[in-house]
Amino acid sequence: MSVHGAEKPITIPDLRRMKGSPQVWLTAYTTPMAQRLDPHCDVLLVGDSLGMVLYGLPSTLAVTLDMMIGHGAAVVRGAKRACIVVDLPFGTYQTSPQQAFETSARVLAETGCAGVKLEGGTEMADTIRFLTQRGIPVCGHVGLMPQSVNVAGGFRATGRTEDEAAKVAADARAVAEAGAFAVVLEGTLEPVAAAITRDISIPTIGIGASAECDGQVLVIDDILGTFNDFKPRFVKRYAQLGDQISQAAAAYARDVRARNFPGPDNVFRKVK
Ligand code: KIV
Repeated sequence: MSVHGAEKPITIPDLRRMKGSPQVWLTAYTTPMAQRLDPHCDVLLVGDSLGMVLYGLPSTLAVTLDMMIGHGAAVVRGAKRACIVVDLPFGTYQTSPQQAFETSARVLAETGCAGVKLEGGTEMADTIRFLTQRGIPVCGHVGLMPQSVNVAGGFRATGRTEDEAAKVAADARAVAEAGAFAVVLEGTLEPVAAAITRDISIPTIGIGASAECDGQVLVIDDILGTFNDFKPRFVKRYAQLGDQISQAAAAYARDVRARNFPGPDNVFRKVK
């Protein structure tokens, strides 16, 4: 089933029903970008990756709830049909289901988004159940979990050993059974991600995972070429806007220094 092209906004139940159909997810952080992406996407994810691609942070760990709420509200203002999901940042949900509920309630109320995403598998299942039973739609996130970068010792794909593969599969199953409407599978060996997709009843959304996942998500700055600090293997660049920005800035600088800007069309001449 595809809801692409539908006039009405895509809902969380629509996404659940799309198990087995390709779901298009992209990250977005601002209103103008949301306006551009909205017609093409089923979900706009306000990811905590914004810490790295917008704020120049080395990881997602220092992203705050206020940052997520500000950007979440901006994306909601720019979208008409895509379903908006906002990441819960590190430290705002892991203490207890109650803490997760208070954080998620603020995110939903203050941004107008439809659901939240949080990282963690079996250890977060009780929290996911607590949230979903109280009206908060949750997307899980297992496999490579960037908020656990210090435990993992880096951003490393998982599922390489039998133990790792069994752990990701158990995590995805736990998240699904707890009531999540979808689960992001990040940095997970291809056959492992494919098997998980066949095994669980909710849509899997892959990033560095498998073409067999129900949907795919990428960071918008990665596909546009505006974030060039590093390029993971799973990123496909669809544009090189970073280069175009540099060229535009260089052309402007040349014009200003040569007094070619502003030109006659860029100034107000008539006096009243
Ligand atoms: O923060 C983010 O953008 C994400 C996606 C990469 C899945 O979690």
